[in-house]
Amino acid sequence: MIFDTHAHYGDEQFDEDRDELLAGMADAGVGTIVEIGASMQSSRDAVRLAEKYPFVYAAAGVHPDHVGELNEEAMEELRQMCRKEKVVAVGEIGLDYHWDTEPREVQKHWFIWQLNLARETGLPVNIHSRDAAEDTMEIMKEHAKGLGGIIHCFSYSREMAKEYVKMGFSIGVGGVVTFKNGRKLKEIVKEIPLEKLVLETDCPYLAPEPNRGRRNDSRNIHFVAQQIAEIKGIDKELSLIHISEPTRLALIA
Ligand code: NI
Repeated sequence: MIFDTHAHYGDEQFDEDRDELLAGMADAGVGTIVEIGASMQSSRDAVRLAEKYPFVYAAAGVHPDHVGELNEEAMEELRQMCRKEKVVAVGEIGLDYHWDTEPREVQKHWFIWQLNLARETGLPVNIHSRDAAEDTMEIMKEHAKGLGGIIHCFSYSREMAKEYVKMGFSIGVGGVVTFKNGRKLKEIVKEIPLEKLVLETDCPYLAPEPNRGRRNDSRNIHFVAQQIAEIKGIDKELSLIHISEPTRLALIA
């Protein structure tokens, strides 16, 4: 069964058919989904979705683009969310210097605060990092030791992937690995042990080939698993089992 470690079913692109789609997941071979919060509201929605569907779990956290909304009250609310039974990670949190929506110092401040929240609540983290390789690594080294979790939609170098794995993190692989311009990620997949790779969609975004450009959902992970299996020279089913199970245990334990 597929384990989608990173989904956004709260997105308005699913407003028309969210329940219908989720109701059909088991029949499509999708066993577990982690719905990822990116703002206070989407974190609340993620918790609600997880409470509604037994196979959905939630991550609560504020994405670097939205850290401007954090304050004392929000901090307390996030803390409470992270203690809920179906919340399995703090995320997605990190740095985004591509959009630079919030000042970098502000992004760093709240990234560190949320890493500390993960430590305080005993949860792993789901990391978003774009065009901020050095600063992310520096902060992770200082504040994320032993936390565990996933570097989502990994877009950095092979060396850095190995470094994160050495630090106990898993590498999130999604649709990009099927793209023609996904060569760098393919090389990383080749080198990193299967048990340190995890499957993700980031749906509704980043649909894999042959559905690139369309709305993505967890059923498409088959194409990602197929690509990983080809790169690794193994059976697709084997890649699914090996990729899915360790994360499942890590996230739900
Ligand atoms: Ni995401």
